[in-house]
Amino acid sequence: MKLIVTGSFDESSRHVAARFAEVIREKPDALIGCATGSSTVGIYRHLAAQYEAGTLDFAKVRTVNVDEYMGIGPGHGQSFAHFMAEHFFTRVNLAPENCYLVDGAGDPAGETARFRAFLGGNRMDILMLGIGTNGHVGFNEPAPVFTAGAHVVALAEDTIRANSRFFQDESEVPRHAMTMGIGDIAKARRVCLIASGAAKADAVRRLFADDNIDPRLPCTILKACPDAEVVIDRELAQAA
Ligand code: GLP
Repeated sequence: MKLIVTGSFDESSRHVAARFAEVIREKPDALIGCATGSSTVGIYRHLAAQYEAGTLDFAKVRTVNVDEYMGIGPGHGQSFAHFMAEHFFTRVNLAPENCYLVDGAGDPAGETARFRAFLGGNRMDILMLGIGTNGHVGFNEPAPVFTAGAHVVALAEDTIRANSRFFQDESEVPRHAMTMGIGDIAKARRVCLIASGAAKADAVRRLFADDNIDPRLPCTILKACPDAEVVIDRELAQAA
């Protein structure tokens, strides 16, 4: 697991976008793992800019999202499907049939089986991740043990509180979500985790504090990934 410290959040975003672009140029039908949240907005902006400049083609690229709220459908303004449409899918030439999304309004058991089958048959060439203030990756919350495969998770209080900023009221934040499992993340060929802002400093500090892979700090799974980068800006590095 490599630590990359950049000068700013924009530089971190540009760095991760460049890693994605590298993979896509090498393998035009790469499967890219996509995360959502404020940490990822800059990455999508830089990827879209490369598409607009004619230097990157997404025609054959395949995507899969890390997680999705359960109980709200793709039409909901806070669904991750909506986020992806707004920040990425409508800005590049991805084919809709190449984009795998969990249906948050679907039957949880059926969606879990469908997601597990997809991930069982498809290995991600590169995966971007954000990080929760409690160290979660995707929606793999701190727990006594890791869950290997895709599963429905009850969101931690910390996460509900942190994500309530996107909803009118904390009571509107879905209590459940679907996430790829820790085993799925560990299998990705490359992983880039981007973190920014003082709220993430504690999780990042704990990630680098020792050599443990600890389910109580799910981001520590990156230590088992074949090629993982943690990309932070100088401001976060100083706070951590
Ligand atoms: C959410 C998502 C994660 C994301 C994290 C950080 O709960 N499930 O995939 O990485 O929180 O979000 P943000 O980047 O907005 O801080």
